[in-house]
Amino acid sequence: MTDVLTFDAAGIARGAAILRAGGLVAFGTETVYGLGGDATNPQAVAAIFAAKGRPHFNPLICHYTDAEAAFRHVEVNEAARVLARALWPGPLTLVLPRRPDCPVALLTGAGLDTLAVRVPAHPIALALIAALGRPIAAPSANRSGQVSPTSAAHVLDGLAGRIDAVIDSGPCPVGVESTVLALTGPRPLLLRPGGATVEAIEALIGPIDHGAPHGVDQPGAGLRSPGMLLSHYAPTLPVRLEARSVGAEEALLAFGPALAGAGATFDLSPTGNPTEAASRLFEGLRDLDARGQALGLRGIAVMPVPDAGLGLAINDRLRRSAAPRGTP
Ligand code: TXA
Ligand code: MG
Repeated sequence: MTDVLTFDAAGIARGAAILRAGGLVAFGTETVYGLGGDATNPQAVAAIFAAKGRPHFNPLICHYTDAEAAFRHVEVNEAARVLARALWPGPLTLVLPRRPDCPVALLTGAGLDTLAVRVPAHPIALALIAALGRPIAAPSANRSGQVSPTSAAHVLDGLAGRIDAVIDSGPCPVGVESTVLALTGPRPLLLRPGGATVEAIEALIGPIDHGAPHGVDQPGAGLRSPGMLLSHYAPTLPVRLEARSVGAEEALLAFGPALAGAGATFDLSPTGNPTEAASRLFEGLRDLDARGQALGLRGIAVMPVPDAGLGLAINDRLRRSAAPRGTP
């Protein structure tokens, strides 16, 4: 039985009590809903992997109330300080070396000697971490491989009965996950495009390595960021990208003025605004998947989205949702 808690002092207190006892609580952040557990409790972290049905122990992001708390657990450098000052709280995750005395469970970082740390810009998330008094490990609150949740209802779709509670904090304003940036090598490396744009990051610390094209790891190259499986965010219906025309047998995920003739349409942003589109992306994939299946449509066609600003993160998620299922 999964309790739905309210976005108030009682809901936060109950959520923190569940976490303290080793339970799992989903909660809103500015990006997507997270599936939280006490990051210092290895049993709680193991329960996160089990609830998601994650096939491997991909490392999880550790969420803190502020940079000072985060930087007590990792080795900090100048780029990390500059980015934290400008972009935290916010949709940026920094991968840094763990400090030897870091109390975060090794399973949180999947046994790596690095840790991904982030300060979310959301009152619920911050209040819950503060009430627990420890960092919260939280992947997106969906079953492994499925579309990330941007509302409490999405969380319940995938995880009802598998987690203790969800705190309903309404829709997530950014709508795509945080940008993941590794600051462990000679140059900063983009591991996952996300809510903090590459443009904003490079304006602060100069050019960063983008790694493999569009952040997708090449097969056989070894996964730098173990969570970056190619097929991910997959709806049930197949996804076709770069659609320039559409027929009545397909559902359409539109960007800008919608193509005519689709069997069902969800418009990410009628004005072609990538920020609005990011906030509606996962909602749109879920909506078209449900309506498309009910109508017997054969797939979801997606109009092109330019690769600038949040468009980079949107296209990364769309490519994964369209990738052959079960890869790698
Ligand atoms: O916006 C977000 O980041 C959301 C909210 C809940 O904060 N969380 C999220 O977590 O998207 P998750 O687990 O779905 O994605 C975490 C990503 C994965 O690609 C993982 O491989 C990478 O971060 N990651 C975590 N720790 C890492 C590490 N030590 N080294 C390299 N990559 C790491
Ligand atoms: Mg995820």
